[in-house]
Amino acid sequence: MITLPAAARLRGRNVLTVSDLGSDELASLLALGTTLKERGREQMTLLRGKTLVMLFEKPSLRTRVSFEAGMTQLGGHAIAVNGSDVGIGTRETPEDAARVLSRYGDAIVYRTHAHEPLVRFAGAATVPTINALSEAAHPCQAIADLLTIRERFGTLQGLRIAFVGDARNNVAISLAEAAALCGMSITFAAPVTHRPSDAFLARLVKLGAPHGVTARAFTSPIRAVRDVDVVYTDVWTSMGDEQFVERNLAALRPYQVDSALMGAAANHALFMHCLPAHRGEEVTAEVMDGAQSVVFDQAENRLHAQKALLLALLTDLRGLTD
Ligand code: CP
Ligand code: NVA
Repeated sequence: MITLPAAARLRGRNVLTVSDLGSDELASLLALGTTLKERGREQMTLLRGKTLVMLFEKPSLRTRVSFEAGMTQLGGHAIAVNGSDVGIGTRETPEDAARVLSRYGDAIVYRTHAHEPLVRFAGAATVPTINALSEAAHPCQAIADLLTIRERFGTLQGLRIAFVGDARNNVAISLAEAAALCGMSITFAAPVTHRPSDAFLARLVKLGAPHGVTARAFTSPIRAVRDVDVVYTDVWTSMGDEQFVERNLAALRPYQVDSALMGAAANHALFMHCLPAHRGEEVTAEVMDGAQSVVFDQAENRLHAQKALLLALLTDLRGLTD
């Protein structure tokens, strides 16, 4: 008898935040992602006849292309629709759009602004909805990032990661939740205006309680990164927040990741960024292009992690375990 991996329990579910995944399901997705990566660009037929509908209300390079390439490699097909052509919330409600798209596609990938309409959309959809980035979360990025860290260190449990910069943004939140679930302790380096709430830090500690995870916020970047295994940053102003560019530049300038800051982390520390990056703002070109940087591995791993997710949501995974 075949023992199915924990990720098989994800079939038919939505993934809007990392908290939609159990720690065993996340670990199992990472293992599947590694298997798929080892199989490279092999043409598979596991999703033959399946259509992924992708709806983007913000720009995207990595998410859009990696999902589309992933569907092609798995034998299925993806359709990308520009959000401004659809008008969710103006031409029709999230619920009506979800009901319609569920009649065409086998799963829906949706990138949007506020998180609440995404929750409404997913609640009305009758096929799995995957959050491709909202203001509150970017779970696909977090899964790929943990795959990247695990392939470098061979493990996740017991590692320490520091997030430097806009520590309240979608990428920081999902990364921290995923890291805590996998037993990684996390520190944040941010001014008080951009630091996560005490309630969020407490939630991280709870998520990582089986592993004794700690979660702390510092205003000093040096203190936050001291001896950590991974230093992570993201843009200072997220898509949709452009009116705050000047304010964020002023507040976050001391939080640029440069070689001096990397020098405070462990010698073996990785530098990570979800991309796109603004060289000379949140990170120097020297660090981006330096030996510790794994940013393009992260981008590649979006493909492998999302192929794992698609197979888990749309199949019983027997095709991979047979
Ligand atoms: N990291 C990421 O989601 O990239 P895109 O915005 O290009 O999809
Ligand atoms: N925090 C960034 C991530 C982009 C992938 C944004 O939301 O724009």
